[in-house]
Amino acid sequence: MFTDLNGIKKRFLADVENANDLTALEGTSKKYLGVKRGELTMVLRSLKDLSASERKKVGLKANQLKRFMQEEFAREEHSLRSKMKLDIRGRQGIDVTAPGKKPERGHLHPLTRVLEDIEDIFERMGFGVVLGPDIETEFYNFDALNIPKDHPARDLWDTFWLKPVIGRRQGAKGGKPGKGQKFLLRTHTSPVQIRYMETHEPPFRIIAPGRAFRHEATDASHHFNFYQVEGLMVGDAVSVANFKSVITSFYGAFFRKNVDIRLRPSYFPFVEPGFEVDMSCTNCNGKGCSSCSRRGWLEMMGAGMVHPNVFRAVGYNPKFVQGFAFGMGVERLAMMRYKIDDIRLFYSGDLRFLKQF
Ligand code: FA5
Repeated sequence: MFTDLNGIKKRFLADVENANDLTALEGTSKKYLGVKRGELTMVLRSLKDLSASERKKVGLKANQLKRFMQEEFAREEHSLRSKMKLDIRGRQGIDVTAPGKKPERGHLHPLTRVLEDIEDIFERMGFGVVLGPDIETEFYNFDALNIPKDHPARDLWDTFWLKPVIGRRQGAKGGKPGKGQKFLLRTHTSPVQIRYMETHEPPFRIIAPGRAFRHEATDASHHFNFYQVEGLMVGDAVSVANFKSVITSFYGAFFRKNVDIRLRPSYFPFVEPGFEVDMSCTNCNGKGCSSCSRRGWLEMMGAGMVHPNVFRAVGYNPKFVQGFAFGMGVERLAMMRYKIDDIRLFYSGDLRFLKQF
């Protein structure tokens, strides 16, 4: 029997070269080494019919060819798998040479950045940063700030009142425990003034950043949930001049340019005198533009000299201490800095907006 092992090898090599995927390669493997009808398998099976000397000669070569074929299949299969990026189980593998995917990185919300900047600037001027609770008592939010129950000033703030907790003692200073002290979402950060003064002695200077809540309809410049930064500086000779100087320095540092400020008389029950603080528009340098409604000035905060009744509420003698307080809206500062014309964008969760910062 003539066995053309060289011919088998040649055909085999041509077939392997033409096999472009794993299925074709498997077909080639079956064609030559398949258990039933593989070409080389048939040769090996027919060895028994050969004479002893021929069996030895052909058997040796046929087995060498079988090993060669197996090694070729393994090599080719590995090369095909790595080209197709498949692992040994046929799953998509990792191509270590492919360029990496950049993971999405988050960043601070613009309001958080502005808050951090405000804190930094005031800290550089020697102010401490203190915090107060979002849920307040009626006492801290109103009474202790010289806004008694029937005072018309309470109408200034549309309040989110919280349902009374029945059967629980709601003891807070100024509200008799068990007497139904009412809770609310603070309408401003001014209650932190009281909380701080109750436990500290002058002189001191602090700011209190945090959220405030008002039951108001939203529009481009009002939200029902917004941030304020309260400021309070108390000593034996703290004056309006000190306030002007601190606030002018603050705006200069925040906007990185000189800004003019002006004080207009205003009314807040917890200060006397009280004023609104306007800042020259940073957009038009006070000439008048759409951001400042052509006035050249922007209303930035409420402020004033702490009312003697507030000092009395915390046990200070107003004869010996005086100080200023202010409350500024943080969104308004952020809107000025980044030229944003609608406050609602800060709370929209819209990534198209947030990714710009
Ligand atoms: C107050 O809240 C006083 N507590 C401020 C104060 C503190 C006065 C200490 C005197 C002494 P007013 O209601 O004006 O004041 O609010 C202060 C600032 O908060 C406003 O200038 C504005 O920037 C911001 N603000 C008020 N209401 C809203 C609102 N609904 N949405 C966004 N910002 C607001």
